[in-house]
Amino acid sequence: MVSTTLLDSDAASLAQAAELLRGGALVAMPTETVYGLAGDATSDAAVAAIYAAKGRPSFNPLIAHVCDMDMAASLVDFPPEALALARAFWPGPLTLVLPLRAGAPVAARVTAGLPTLALRMPAHPVARALIAEVGRPLAAPSANPSGRISPTEPAHVLAGLDGRIAAVIDGGACSVGVESTILAVAEDGAVRLLRPGGIGAEEVLAATGLTLSAPEANAGIEAPGQMLSHYAPRGSLRLNVGTPDPGETLLGFGAVEARHNLSPSGDLSEAASRLFALLHRMDHEGVARIAVSPIPETGIGRAINDRLRRAAAPRD
Ligand code: TXA
Ligand code: MG
Repeated sequence: MVSTTLLDSDAASLAQAAELLRGGALVAMPTETVYGLAGDATSDAAVAAIYAAKGRPSFNPLIAHVCDMDMAASLVDFPPEALALARAFWPGPLTLVLPLRAGAPVAARVTAGLPTLALRMPAHPVARALIAEVGRPLAAPSANPSGRISPTEPAHVLAGLDGRIAAVIDGGACSVGVESTILAVAEDGAVRLLRPGGIGAEEVLAATGLTLSAPEANAGIEAPGQMLSHYAPRGSLRLNVGTPDPGETLLGFGAVEARHNLSPSGDLSEAASRLFALLHRMDHEGVARIAVSPIPETGIGRAINDRLRRAAAPRD
């Protein structure tokens, strides 16, 4: 048990956070997608502590966060397709799974023994400044206990991890609200979608000319963390509901009568940015049965539906 400090995001606080990280401690940091539970990716002990704090299964690898291309290139090989994706979408809500370089300075547990590394250059200024100040890649899964809802506000991080990590940096609410799109680029240049996020196949095609294989076309689970029951609130969830049953509380979308509405105007970006906060709120209110309005399966709506399906999946 440690006492968790809530830090500001000014330069002095970031220097303090960087010192904690260099000493092997864990610090939750804001990114534009969700809060990440950061630890020094080059330290076996820090990475082991991330798994322990989250209660994360050891076979589920972590994303390494970098602040520039030099740091990225020291860790992985970039096939031309990956370079095109990085140029188009970094810094931003995109994670690339790429061949790990021999001798790359990352703790073995970051990749859970895979020959690939998931890499992201976040756009959030606090995350980038922090990584630069530490001067090392930071391993960071979402800052929630394994299997629970991802955090988009510092209070969500504290609700799940208070007393288990050294500090949380307050960067306000996350603007995107769902985790990064994950694309795997094989050595032969084939690009596969491992997790839908804010960047969809349409944007990838428009920006790079690359075509993705759909997640449905993948055999089994390719991102080991994409197990079915995930992002789970304590209450049950029923999806695509027009009229809730008696005893259900509606999580609305669009022009519907609901105590909580993801976006009354039907704006998918707004809905994504509010999704986890409203699930956290309903958890906090003790809602036992959540019914969710239909969400269009377009753009970031695909990522919203992906998270909702996982949240609604049977649990063990
Ligand atoms: O937006 C995000 O991506 C956030 C912020 C903090 O960056 N992070 C995040 O991390 O969502 P996490 O640990 O909750 O999800 C990482 C996903 C998992 O599904 C994991 O299995 C997958 O990335 N992953 C990591 N390394 C991989 C690899 N080498 N091959 C395939 N999948 C990998
Ligand atoms: Mg997660």
